[in-house]
Amino acid sequence: MERVQKLIAESGLTSRRKAEELIMQGKVYVNGEKAVLGMKASEEDEIIVDGEEIKKDEKVYYLLNKPEGYICSLNDEKNRPIITDLIDTDKRIYPVGRLDYNTTGLIILTNDGTLDNLLTHPTFHIEKTYIAKLDKKILTEDIYKLKDGVVIDKRKCIPTRVKVKSNNKYATVEISIIEGRNHIIKNVFAALGYKVIRLHRSKYGFLTDDIPEGNYRLLNKKEVHKLYAYQSQNK
Ligand code: URA
Repeated sequence: MERVQKLIAESGLTSRRKAEELIMQGKVYVNGEKAVLGMKASEEDEIIVDGEEIKKDEKVYYLLNKPEGYICSLNDEKNRPIITDLIDTDKRIYPVGRLDYNTTGLIILTNDGTLDNLLTHPTFHIEKTYIAKLDKKILTEDIYKLKDGVVIDKRKCIPTRVKVKSNNKYATVEISIIEGRNHIIKNVFAALGYKVIRLHRSKYGFLTDDIPEGNYRLLNKKEVHKLYAYQSQNK
């Protein structure tokens, strides 16, 4: 839910300030009811301003296979390339959660704040799978420690799955986790004495990296519904 003046301003009709004035002048209706200042509404509600219904910003959902060297932020003080540079759109999209500058793999970008809030909320249980290349071989005892869970900042991170893909000079470990703390995979391995030298997110819930690195595609309606449905399963 957002303040009505914010929704009006986001529609591009007028500024937030002007929208407040229109509300005070009694020229704004939400679902047939005269709006008052401070009233909240959602994208689902009908908002009429001076007899005209505001246009809702069409929601878009992109799935990007992020390459290395992009920052998951809308601006960067070091002027590094930002993730939205990779997507050709005139919508104001932003990444859902974060991947580190050098991490590759799946990330959703959208202008749907509701989905963003759901997917990044701590109670939201969506499994993410990463392929981590380590700086050395991994010891069997550390694989067990990893499976049992590693404490990071006083909270245990227990992977849902750990699979060592190769263990020659360097180990490659496939690891799935539910939580979404920043740098969590690197921190988990660091706690066991390993440095992650390459990190790729290969799965995000049911979504898999079926697109080449640096490329993206739109999520279809069914996929978006499925992402929303995760939330109801976890309630
Ligand atoms: N964990 C990390 O350490 N880095 C990422 O980019 C994602 C998860």
